[in-house]
Amino acid sequence: MDSYLNKLRVEIEEHLSSIDLPSDPANLYEPIEYMLSLGGKRIRPILTLIGCELFGKPYSNAMDQALAVEIFHNFTLVHDDIMDSAEVRRNLPTVHKKWDVNIALLSGDGMIVIAYQHLFKAQNDKLKKLADVFSKTALEVCEGQQYDMDYASYETVSLSSYLEMIRLKTAVLLGGAMQLGAIVADASEKQLEQVQHFAESMGLAFQIKDDYLDSFGDQDSFGKEIGGDIREGKRTWLTLKAFELLGDDNQRLLDAYSITDIAKRVDAVMAIYNELDVKGCAEKEIARYSDDSLKTLANIEGEENVKSKLSALVHYLIDREN
Ligand code: IPE
Ligand code: IPE
Ligand code: MG
Ligand code: MG
Ligand code: MG
Repeated sequence: MDSYLNKLRVEIEEHLSSIDLPSDPANLYEPIEYMLSLGGKRIRPILTLIGCELFGKPYSNAMDQALAVEIFHNFTLVHDDIMDSAEVRRNLPTVHKKWDVNIALLSGDGMIVIAYQHLFKAQNDKLKKLADVFSKTALEVCEGQQYDMDYASYETVSLSSYLEMIRLKTAVLLGGAMQLGAIVADASEKQLEQVQHFAESMGLAFQIKDDYLDSFGDQDSFGKEIGGDIREGKRTWLTLKAFELLGDDNQRLLDAYSITDIAKRVDAVMAIYNELDVKGCAEKEIARYSDDSLKTLANIEGEENVKSKLSALVHYLIDREN
């Protein structure tokens, strides 16, 4: 990560660790503390801070909103890991594994409330706008998560349905995060639209890279179990590309997905991905969306020196191994 982005990340980390949570009931607050202290890239709060700077105000003005976004994101991860039966996150046991599902549900609920508490530490005249953007985004993430689960039971889905699903579950939150910072900096409606557009294109590249790492990453670097999407029957960009390349032969992939032994299922699907060079295709697609986002970035009416920080962030996100 570029040194400026890393400086923001460290500041966010310091603020997160100084959030004062009650100690009781321990089974409510310890999982929240655990989740918030596990690290992570902190890209959403970085986007909030830069979204503020982009429109000429010091990034520190948007620190509370940045924390709100990161806490909300961590809530989505706790519940997502239940939905995806994931046992490892950031190289450590997921909350529902370390504690149990009920504890993970409730501590996730608590995190949404704590996120709103931070969001509302703002000037009165900005509260309505902040709440509207945050709530719209949060509900869209739920919509995306529902499509993601629905699609796992479909034979295949169109690429446009898939893109809309990842726009909702992932990309809108990157956009919402930036908008919150921009609102704190009094950006215009047009500027808010521009940052949303930029961050959504970046978010599509980001989620396709996440799909890619789920199959082709290294478990220690990625911090999540490799092959989890295949195990869960997820329709990812890799699956859809493989279906497209197989054409009339696509029953082969459906057969691989229906193998009950999980290790054999993962091997069979990976063998098809390798045969078709789905990896190379995904790399091209990630580059295409990140190029799109950089073009959109160039047109934003904001501080030029801050735009270079955003372009560094795009490059970091597409080159990452975690
Ligand atoms: C994981 O998000 C969920 C996705 C939308 C892919 P991140 O990859 O940003 O996770 P952390 O916060 O860095 O662990
Ligand atoms: C997650 O998508 C999106 C949200 C958490 C909203 P994934 O299920 O692919 O995220 P990871 O890979 O578990 O982090
Ligand atoms: Mg998921
Ligand atoms: Mg998941
Ligand atoms: Mg994933």
